[in-house]
Amino acid sequence: MVNVAILGFGTVGSGVAEVLTTNSDLIGRRVDELVNLKYILDVRDFPGSPYEHCFVKDFSVIEQDPEVDVVVETIGGATIALEFTTRALKAGKSVVSSNKELVATHGYELLQLAREHGVSYLFEASVGGGIPILRPLTACLAANEFDQITGILNGTTNYILTRMIRAGLTFEQALKEAQDKGYAEKDPTADVDGHDACRKICILAALSFGEHVYPNQVPTEGIRNVTLADVAYADSCGYKIKLLGRAIRQEGGKVCAFVAPHLVPCENPLAGVEDVFNAVSVTGNAVGDVMFYGRGAGKLPTASAVVADVIDIAKDKKRDHHNQWGPGREDLVVSPDILTSRWYIRTTASVEQLRSACGEVQPLARSGAPAGETACLTPPMTEPELKERLSHVELLSKLRVLSE
Ligand code: HSE
Repeated sequence: MVNVAILGFGTVGSGVAEVLTTNSDLIGRRVDELVNLKYILDVRDFPGSPYEHCFVKDFSVIEQDPEVDVVVETIGGATIALEFTTRALKAGKSVVSSNKELVATHGYELLQLAREHGVSYLFEASVGGGIPILRPLTACLAANEFDQITGILNGTTNYILTRMIRAGLTFEQALKEAQDKGYAEKDPTADVDGHDACRKICILAALSFGEHVYPNQVPTEGIRNVTLADVAYADSCGYKIKLLGRAIRQEGGKVCAFVAPHLVPCENPLAGVEDVFNAVSVTGNAVGDVMFYGRGAGKLPTASAVVADVIDIAKDKKRDHHNQWGPGREDLVVSPDILTSRWYIRTTASVEQLRSACGEVQPLARSGAPAGETACLTPPMTEPELKERLSHVELLSKLRVLSE
C-alpha cells in the first residue's frame, strides 16, 4: 500500500482527494498496489466531508508517520508550503506539488534536498494545470536541445483577453466577469500583472535549459494596459493580443526570458487558444515545433496532473524520478532588449512623423478612432531602438509582434 497525505484542502487539494477516491480501482491496477489517502492537513473543519476521518491539523502527525510515502502540497505560496515541503523531504517522503510560486523560487534547493534524501519532488501540475508538459519536456523530448518555449500560461488573463476580443468588453468588465465565474481571484494581481505566467516560464526555462531561472530575473508585464482600441487595431491586421511567457536560448548558455502581451498572427496556433485554455509551444533541434494544449487551471484538470505524479512515484519507489537543474546565476538571463521584432504602436503622432522616425510603417485603421489617434506596425527593431526613435512621440500603446 502507498499512503498519501494532502496538505491544504482547497480547490486543488479537494480535487486530488476526489480523483484518488473516484479512480481508486484503476489507480490501484496501474500501480499494482492500493494508493490510500491517509491524511488531509487543513486548519479548517469540514464536518460531513467524506474524508472526515483523514483530517489532521498538525503537520508533525504526517511528518512522523513512517507509513506516509507521498505528501501532496497544494497549500500555495512560499512560506508554510516551503517549511512543510522541506520537512517532508527531510523525513524521507516524496513530495508532489502544484505550487508554481514555490517551485519557481525554491525549486533548485528542494530538488537538491529530495536527491540528498533519496526521494522525489515532482510538480507537473505547477505549469499548464492538466496539460502534460513538464514530463514530456524531460522524457519524450529529452533528446532535443531546446531553442525556444512560448506559452499562454495563464488562464485568467487569456479569458479576459478573449472576452475583450470576442465580446468587446473592457479590461475592467472582463476582469469582473472572470471574478464572477471564479477564474480570477478577488486580488487578481498575480494573474493580470503577469506574475503567475512569470513563475511558469521560469519553471519551463529551468527544465529546458538546465539552470534555475528566478522570477526576479524575468521582466514581466501584464495586461492591465491593453485597451479595446488595441484589440481592434490588432484585429484589423490579422493579429490577436495574447499574454505570452517566452524563453529563448542564447549563445553562451544564456536565456532570454520575459512575459509580455504580444500581437500573435492569426495563422499561429497560439492565436486560436481561447478562454481559460493554456498552450505551450516548444521548438527542439530534432523534433521541430511541438505544441501542448489544454485546461491550464481548475480543480480536476490540475488534480489529474498531481495524481499522475503520485502514481509515477508509487509505481516504482526505487526509480530516480528527479527533475534536475543547476543553481542558476546572476548573468544567466538576458534582457528582451536584444530581440528584434516588429512593434505595434498607438500614438498621437501622425503617420508622416512615424515614417520619418521608423521607416516604412504599416498604418492601421479602426472604426470609431478619435481624431489625432494613429496606429501602425513598425519594421523590425529592438525595443531600445524603438524608444530612441520615438523619444519625441507620445506613445499610448506599444506591443511586441510575435513573428510567424
Ligand atoms: N490563476 C491561474 C490561472 C491558475 O488563471 O491560470 C492556474 O495556475
